[in-house]
Amino acid sequence: MPPTHGMLAPLVLAVAAAVAYQRLTQKRPYTGDPAQQRVVILGASSGIGKHLALQYAARGAQLLLVARRRDRLEAVQAECRGQHARTTCEVVVGDAADEAVLAAAAAAARERLGGVDVLVLCAGVTSIIPFEQVCALDAAAAAEPTASAASAAGASASAALVERIFRTNVFSPIMATKHFLPLLRASKGQILVISSAAGIMAAPTRPIYTASKHAMTGFFKTLRIELAASGVSVCIALPGTVDTELRDAAVDGMGATSKYRGSAGISADECARIIIAGADRGDREIYMPWFYGVAHVLSLILPGVVDHFAAKKYKLA
Ligand SMILES: NC(=O)c1ccc[n+]([C@@H]2O[C@H](COP(=O)([O-])OP(=O)(O)OC[C@H]3O[C@@H](n4cnc5c(N)ncnc54)[C@H](OP(=O)(O)O)[C@@H]3O)[C@@H](O)[C@H]2O)c1
Repeated sequence: MPPTHGMLAPLVLAVAAAVAYQRLTQKRPYTGDPAQQRVVILGASSGIGKHLALQYAARGAQLLLVARRRDRLEAVQAECRGQHARTTCEVVVGDAADEAVLAAAAAAARERLGGVDVLVLCAGVTSIIPFEQVCALDAAAAAEPTASAASAAGASASAALVERIFRTNVFSPIMATKHFLPLLRASKGQILVISSAAGIMAAPTRPIYTASKHAMTGFFKTLRIELAASGVSVCIALPGTVDTELRDAAVDGMGATSKYRGSAGISADECARIIIAGADRGDREIYMPWFYGVAHVLSLILPGVVDHFAAKKYKLA
């Protein structure tokens, strides 16, 4: 039986919807030769950034690494150079929140690498105590007569802590994007953002870190839309807990003693492997472990349930 007009309309609508869905959700997988990739990594002296560097190096990439600890960065540089005959590895030592360092890194990428294909924003710091402890308000409540002295000391300490975390986790990646964007536009490259599961969900005992990672995620989700026509893509990694030095180096100085440190999590090597696979596929977001993606959706429809598990994870319930 030949199709009637009544049958054709839903068919055309279904095809149009499928094409629209395909176009709106399409990924931009990396199709070039990984050995030709020029990769800049901010925060490459340890942890996830170091393992991303090693894994990009093992494919023969040309690398430029940035971090403050010269000895650790140069050790990573030497390890990267040994990964593959074609690999090159340059370093810029300095604070990734300092615009002069970012300008020097962008100039080095232009002159020594001839451009950038992937900009990895991995430099980050955390704090692992509840908000009242950050501000010393818990001490003030416990010792009523000296409350004003305790809160004055807490106020300056907490302001410095908030500034330090936001400077590294928010100001630095935004300013780095400013300095590298002309190079990324030229190569139609990728910004690979190392945010956190705390960048989309609540992480009690890490309130300032959570706020900074939400800001970071919000900035790059917005930038992705603004840059869509330019060919520059944005991939946002959202790891859960990873076994690195991040908590040891907590800016509240509680790395060794905080009862809220939490479990070890996956290894930095495994985390880097999942991130590079997602970046190569052109994923918008990379949830790890995968069920954090489910938890994210649940947090929108059953927020109380997700809050309960978050409190349990961080030993508040
Ligand atoms: N570990 C986790 O559980 C976890 C989970 C989700 C997301 N993340 C994110 O992953 C990223 C990497 O952290 P990690 O876990 O691998 O911890 P890590 O081992 O402490 O690495 C942090 C890196 O950032 C660099 N860095 C910090 N401040 C910097 C600054 N001002 N300028 C330049 N470099 C700076 C450090 O180098 P220098 O000290 O030598 O400068 C180091 O290379 C962070 O953004 C973190 O938020 C970690």
